[in-house]
Amino acid sequence: MMRAKRKAEHIRHAMELHQEGKKHSMDDLVLVHNSLPEAKLSRIDLTVEAGGLKWGSPVFINAMTGGGGEQTEFINRSLAMTAKEHKMAMAVGSQMSAIKDASQRKTYEIVRKTNPDGVIFANIGSEASPKEAGEAVEMIGADALQVHLNAVQELVMPEGDRDFSQRLDNLSAIVSSSKVPVIVKEVGFGISMETAAELKRIGVHMIDAGGTGGTNFSKIENLRRKHPISDFDSWGITAAAALIESLSAFPGPVFASGGYTSPLHIVKALAAGAVSAGMAGAFLHVLMTEGEKGLMSYAEDLHNRIKVIMTAAGAESIPSLSHVPLVIKGDTFHWLEQRGIE
Ligand code: FNR
Repeated sequence: MMRAKRKAEHIRHAMELHQEGKKHSMDDLVLVHNSLPEAKLSRIDLTVEAGGLKWGSPVFINAMTGGGGEQTEFINRSLAMTAKEHKMAMAVGSQMSAIKDASQRKTYEIVRKTNPDGVIFANIGSEASPKEAGEAVEMIGADALQVHLNAVQELVMPEGDRDFSQRLDNLSAIVSSSKVPVIVKEVGFGISMETAAELKRIGVHMIDAGGTGGTNFSKIENLRRKHPISDFDSWGITAAAALIESLSAFPGPVFASGGYTSPLHIVKALAAGAVSAGMAGAFLHVLMTEGEKGLMSYAEDLHNRIKVIMTAAGAESIPSLSHVPLVIKGDTFHWLEQRGIE
C-alpha cells in the first residue's frame, strides 16, 4: 500500500515539476553543419542494435510505473501501445512491489500483453537479490533487465534506504545469474566514468548514463517531505557530461537519458555514441495532458523530426551518425576538460 501511494505521488509530483524548453546540457553539443549531406529522407533507417537485441527506434520509453490500480494500468497500456506502434523499446517501472505481492503483477504483465513482440526491459533496484531479478524478467518475458541506481533519491526519501554498501557485489551476482543482458541505469544524477569503469569490471552488458536536466528525484521526494532538504536539488552530473563520461569508460552499449524532449538532443546523443535515448517524464506529461491519441502523435512527430535532422546531418542510419563531426562547448567542455576526457 505504501509503495502504491508513493508511486502515485511520484507521478503527480513529476507532472508538477515537468518543464519543457528549459536549457539543457545537450545544447553544449553542436553538430557541424554539412552543406552537402549525402542522404535521402525516405532512406533513413532508425534500426537500433544493442546487446544482441534489435529494435526500430533510437528512442526508448524509460521506466516509470507499475503495481497500483487503474491509473497505472492506463499509463502502462498507453505507453506499450505507443511503443508498439513506433517500434520503441520500453522499460517497465520497478517490479519489486509485484515480486512482494502477486496481485500487483497485472499492470506490468499488460505491457507484454499489449506488445507481444516488442523489446521490453524489466526493472529492479540494485538491492534486489539475483532471484528477485530473475523473477522480474520472467514476469514480463523481458528481453533485458534494467537495474536502477538511485542512492540520492533513497536518501531524500523519508522511508528510503540508508545502506548502500555491498551494492557492487550484489550487482555482480545479478549479472552472473541473469538470463538476459543487464542494463545498469541512473535515475537522473548521472553515471561518472569511475562508476562506468566499475560496472565494466563486473561484466555489466549495457549502461544508461541518466544525467541531470529532466526529472529530478531530489525535488520530487522533497515535495513529499514535511521538512524538505534541498542539498541534492542541484546535485549530479549533467546528461551530456554523464553520457560522454560513460562512453569514455564503458566499451559496451551506452544509453542516454535525463531530460530528453527534443529530437535534436536525441540526434546529438546518438552522434556522440549513444545507442538510444530514453524519455520518461516527457512521455508521461504528454499522456496525462493530451491522452493516448496525443501521445501517439507526439511520438510520430518526434520520429519524423529525427529523420529530418539525420537527413540534414547526412546520416541515413544510426551507426553512421557517429561520423558526423561534433563540437562541445560551454560548461560541458569545461567539465570534460577538468575530468581529463578528450
Ligand atoms: C521514474 N523513473 C524510474 N526509474 C526506474 O528505474 N524505476 C522506476 O520505477 C522509476 N519510476 C519513475 C516514476 C516516474 C513518475 C518518473 C517520471 C520516472 C526514472 C526514469 O526512468 C528516468 O530514469 C528519469 O525520469 C530521467 O528521465 P526523464 O524523466 O528526465 O526523461
